[in-house]
Amino acid sequence: MRSSTLLAAVIPFAQAARIIQSNDDGWAEINLRTLFNSLNAAGHNVILSGPAEQKSGTGSSDEPPTTVDSDGCIHSSCAPGSPPTGANASDPRLNYVNSFPVTSIKVGIDTTAPKLWNGAKPELALTGPNVGSNIGIQVPFSGTVGAAAYAAKTARIPAIAMSGWSGDPTPWNQPAPIYSRVYADLALNITSTILRSGSPYLPADVWLNVNFPEVTDSHCNSAGQFKYILTRINWGIFSEKDPLWCGSDRLPTETDIILKKQCLVSISAGDANDKTTVDAARQKVVLDKLRPILSCP
Ligand SMILES: *[C@@H]1O[C@H](CO)[C@@H](O)[C@H](O)[C@H]1NC(C)=O
Ligand SMILES: *[C@@H]1O[C@H](CO)[C@@H](O)[C@H](O)[C@H]1NC(C)=O
Repeated sequence: MRSSTLLAAVIPFAQAARIIQSNDDGWAEINLRTLFNSLNAAGHNVILSGPAEQKSGTGSSDEPPTTVDSDGCIHSSCAPGSPPTGANASDPRLNYVNSFPVTSIKVGIDTTAPKLWNGAKPELALTGPNVGSNIGIQVPFSGTVGAAAYAAKTARIPAIAMSGWSGDPTPWNQPAPIYSRVYADLALNITSTILRSGSPYLPADVWLNVNFPEVTDSHCNSAGQFKYILTRINWGIFSEKDPLWCGSDRLPTETDIILKKQCLVSISAGDANDKTTVDAARQKVVLDKLRPILSCP
């Protein structure tokens, strides 16, 4: 039938979304750019708005952007004394903001995205993959998490913060290291799963805290080897029960899962108000959305 042929042709792009990207390692970091390229290849409309400089550990700080200093942007990715915000001269989707991660994603959401998308807002915010894990007690300090929590809470855009164990700060114009490529593949799988689960993509005030384990040339070196595990950010000894899953009403912590150093991705549902594990009711919504890819630990 003609109509079903048409439908079949349309389906691969049915999940194409407007995505805003940021991080705390800087707009020119290879992990962020590798994911940018993968998201574009998958048909998404992506705008990147990241800090001009390395801004790890700056949590939810937010200040008006200032003129770039005499060293230029990170990895010499913009000239000394460049304006407080700017775009790549040949690709307006790539933007720096000389301030904190929260400020960077805010400028992206409020100013850059509507300008490039005829007034439309992003449908999803992705931060990272951060260079280095953000698990347990590290979470409140992470700018990668801060930007995602801002998107979820203040801008009301569903958000996923991602962080990877492996790698050091690496410029965008180097060949993408194996960890960067594997993290981008894993990130794309989670993103597609959330988009396929339908709108609203996440419950109100929820962001996902995703951590990828160590990847080397010989260890966990392709996305197909990985399992995705639903976790908690913190122990929750005194918290209400988690939703029943894998025969337990207490999920493992993301720290437990990542320190195993196996090919396991941890995914926790975070409360954007306090950056701790969200209540069981909203965890359950997240569980149902991610069910197609989740495994038991
Ligand atoms: C700017 O975009 C061009 C074309 O895509 C690319 O070759 C160059 O490396 C980019 N520079 C930065 C800092 O993004
Ligand atoms: C996503 O992950 C699931 C669970 O491991 C796997 O079955 C599926 O093939 C992956 N999809 C892609 C596109 O990698």
